[in-house]
Amino acid sequence: MAEAQPVAAVSAAQAIIDLEREYVLQNYSRYPLVVRRGKGPYIYDIDGRRYLDFISGIGVNALGHAHPRIVKVIREQAALLLHCSNLYYHPYQGPLAERLAAISGLKRSFFCNSGTEAMEGALKMIRAHGTRVSPDKYEIVSLENSFHGRTLGALSVTGQPKYRKDFEPLLPGVKFVPFNDTGALEQAVTTRTAGIVIEVIQGEGGIFPVSPEYARRARELADKHDALLIFDEIQCGVGRPGVYFSYQLLDPPVLPDVMVAAKPMSCGLPLGVIVANERAAASITAGMHGSTFGGGALACRVALEFLDMLKDLLPHIEQIGEYFRSELGELLHKFSFLKEVRGRGLMVGLDMDVPGKQMVIDAMNDGLLINCTHDTVLRFLPPYIITEREVDAAVKVLTRIFRRQKA
Ligand SMILES: Cc1ncc(COP(=O)(O)O)c(C=O)c1O
Repeated sequence: MAEAQPVAAVSAAQAIIDLEREYVLQNYSRYPLVVRRGKGPYIYDIDGRRYLDFISGIGVNALGHAHPRIVKVIREQAALLLHCSNLYYHPYQGPLAERLAAISGLKRSFFCNSGTEAMEGALKMIRAHGTRVSPDKYEIVSLENSFHGRTLGALSVTGQPKYRKDFEPLLPGVKFVPFNDTGALEQAVTTRTAGIVIEVIQGEGGIFPVSPEYARRARELADKHDALLIFDEIQCGVGRPGVYFSYQLLDPPVLPDVMVAAKPMSCGLPLGVIVANERAAASITAGMHGSTFGGGALACRVALEFLDMLKDLLPHIEQIGEYFRSELGELLHKFSFLKEVRGRGLMVGLDMDVPGKQMVIDAMNDGLLINCTHDTVLRFLPPYIITEREVDAAVKVLTRIFRRQKA
């Protein structure tokens, strides 16, 4: 008879992973890291191991983890009011909208819970605007290689077939044009165009900024054909580029009709927003759109607290981002498989000749959290509070990993 084998003890981390495998929809391929808590730019796993967080929940945790001012307002507000629905007013939605108007140059906000939900609302604005002019005016021009979200409308304007293919047919009337190709844009935009959608710095697509000329031409074409110009600032906005919104980097700046933002808006609480000028906002009237959770008291109050701090952080984001990019630039001379450093502020991509997937795992094992997009672009979206010390630590880990790649 065979001897009984000792039962292997399952670690607490493994038990959590196994339970998810059994009961959670298997749409994510997660890394085997179980996070218990965070502090500043660090995350700690369930066994107490520390990781430098250079991805911030994919651009969400703008002030890092457990920032004392954010913790304080969450505590206070949780004891006062979390939610009252949009049937009533609370003291924070109006002031947040006023602040967004001041920093964006656009007048009117609608609050929701995520990036894709903001994009859905913007698409409804495009449709409502177009059909008011003519029933044929429903086309949307979007860019190849873009990413705008996972819901059906946002997917319809996402210029990467791999995300769309399982869900066709999607919205009719969407035309994709090559990135930064002004001639193609001129061909695509007609009187039937109701909206043009542009991610000002493509994030998921590999950190590619649109050129000022392209953005300007899009503005002119939208005006000429009475279409709405929508800028997706979900990943590239709200301070990450070192200014409030990345369209403010364009020289001269190009103002859209509608801007959508989300990720860092409420430092980890779900909050998305559409900010529109009066012309676009007029397309949506009472009863045409809404969101049960959108713009709740807690999320709005935290966003106000964050925006109070953001103004003073912008020069730091610009300066530390430049330092990070220049340190990465030094690595280009040392490792021939590194091609280019791209980005603005703390939205940074390192383009390579080789796949990055294993490097992300190696970095994690070496205590650094990063991400890879488009197979060969390492993506860094660190919190706005990092200093040269954290940049140096991250670059040290990357250097070790790259040396291994070379071997
Ligand atoms: C540019 C852009 N638009 C839209 C989205 C969708 O946002 P969410 O995941 O909050 O729905 C993302 C998410 O990564 C994004 O990067």
